[in-house]
Amino acid sequence: MRTSIEFFYAGHSHKLEGVKPTDMLLSWLRDNQQARGTKEGCNEGDCGACSVVLARQMGGKIDYQPVNACIFPLANLDGAAIFSVEDYGNRAELHPIQKAVVDEHGSQCGFCTPGFIASMVAGQLGQVEHSAEVQIAGNLCRCTGYGGLIRAFEGQRNTAQPAAFQAKLDAANAWISTAERGGFECHSEASSIYAPADLAAMAALRLAHPDALIIAGATDVGLWMTKGLKQPAKVILTTYVAELHAVSQDTAEFTFGAAVPYSQVGGVLLQDYPEARAWFERLGSVQVRASGTMGGNIANGSPIGDGPPLLIALGARLRLRKSDAVREIALEDYFVAYGKQDLAEGEFVEAIMIPRRQPGQRLMVEKVSRRIDQDITAVLAAFSESDDGLRLAFGGMAATPKLATTVMTSRNPSDIGQDFQPLTDLRASKEYRLRVAENLLRQFFEQEPGAAAQEAAE
Ligand SMILES: Cc1cc2nc3c(=O)[nH]c(=O)nc-3n(C[C@H](O)[C@H](O)[C@H](O)COP(=O)(O)OP(=O)(O)OC[C@H]3O[C@@H](n4cnc5c(N)ncnc54)[C@H](O)[C@@H]3O)c2cc1C
Ligand code: FES
Ligand code: FES
Repeated sequence: MRTSIEFFYAGHSHKLEGVKPTDMLLSWLRDNQQARGTKEGCNEGDCGACSVVLARQMGGKIDYQPVNACIFPLANLDGAAIFSVEDYGNRAELHPIQKAVVDEHGSQCGFCTPGFIASMVAGQLGQVEHSAEVQIAGNLCRCTGYGGLIRAFEGQRNTAQPAAFQAKLDAANAWISTAERGGFECHSEASSIYAPADLAAMAALRLAHPDALIIAGATDVGLWMTKGLKQPAKVILTTYVAELHAVSQDTAEFTFGAAVPYSQVGGVLLQDYPEARAWFERLGSVQVRASGTMGGNIANGSPIGDGPPLLIALGARLRLRKSDAVREIALEDYFVAYGKQDLAEGEFVEAIMIPRRQPGQRLMVEKVSRRIDQDITAVLAAFSESDDGLRLAFGGMAATPKLATTVMTSRNPSDIGQDFQPLTDLRASKEYRLRVAENLLRQFFEQEPGAAAQEAAE
């Protein structure tokens, strides 16, 4: 069994022994490599100052995404490559995007700039084209305003990479294509990391170590470590389990392995459900969607996770595995009570099955939060009506994501108070939550069939 991880950075591979779950990429870059161009702002995935470009194998291709290095565990980097601001250009020859940011006055104190450049370079290299606003929504600048930054990216979106950087990309790609991914264990005095490469090994490890913390993209767990100062003694990574990365579809449903990142889930799901685009683009940022997984969003059991209400409205099911035993449940049944999920000791989430769109199906999904980008949900409403019936799901209205079963029968939005008695908290009052939920229901019931799909297509 391998006891080291290996990844590519700055023109060559780096092999690390004794990696701990709390070892984050940002600290390694700044403290170990003295690559201090990449900055630490919030240390919790919110500001993007620590963004770097990640290159990894995904679906048989090399996928480029920006990630937040502050909450990116080194252990999740095996077989991948990263590029930081030290790579893109140099003082003699700035990267075209760096030059455009200078020309557009997109930098003043410069603290945020390396992170913005990383998001934009990843946007040039990536397979999916986002609007400039979406591409940089995970980066904050407190000095310049965003106009110049948006113009800089829009003007350079399709320019070629400088020769020196292209040579680094080529070298990294060649390395990635032959690199091992996962199938290691890293033990230190205080901790153990288990990184299985297939489902059978994952199931055996989960059974042998039911007390271990499962880590997927670490966009929740990373914060427990950087902000909660938790030091998990034992972790199991889902990152390298091939079956948990599988995506398949037939005429009846999509099946996503639990470790498929949001970036990939969105690309598939939006083909059938274009009304969900705004929901997808407001789920974290490009960085968060590149690391975070739907499996993690469901498994953490949060009442304000943005994934579950939409998937419940669509009639999704979960496949749970304990050793060789597999069971499937309706997603809504997974959420038993606040902090309690239907997950037995030694069990884990294997896959999520989401029904394909039916002819004539209507869907509406709305995230209500104080800010458009990167905010925590106050109310998430997702409504679907098809030949299978009406499904009205909410997040942020109760201790778990839940169906509004009374309104589903009565079709009367005023009955929402019979389904939910929400809390008042920092994000919204109880009265506001009930009012907004009722209004959204009214909008759905009054909407012409097909109007939402038509709007999304436009
Ligand atoms: C800046 C920022 C913005 C965010 N914005 C949003 C947002 O807009 N909407 C939103 O809903 N969330 C948001 N999040 C939260 C987070 O991104 C999501 O909850 C994400 O889906 C978690 O997935 P992950 O792969 O990172 O999970 P991890 O952090 O790795 O794990 C989360 C939990 O799931 C468990 N787990 C993971 N995989 C499995 C499995 N296969 N079986 C059993 N248990 C498992 C872990 O043990 C842990 O308890 C945000 C986070 C950050 C940092
Ligand atoms: S330091 Fe703010 S996102 Fe990492
Ligand atoms: S230039 Fe100062 S934070 Fe962006």
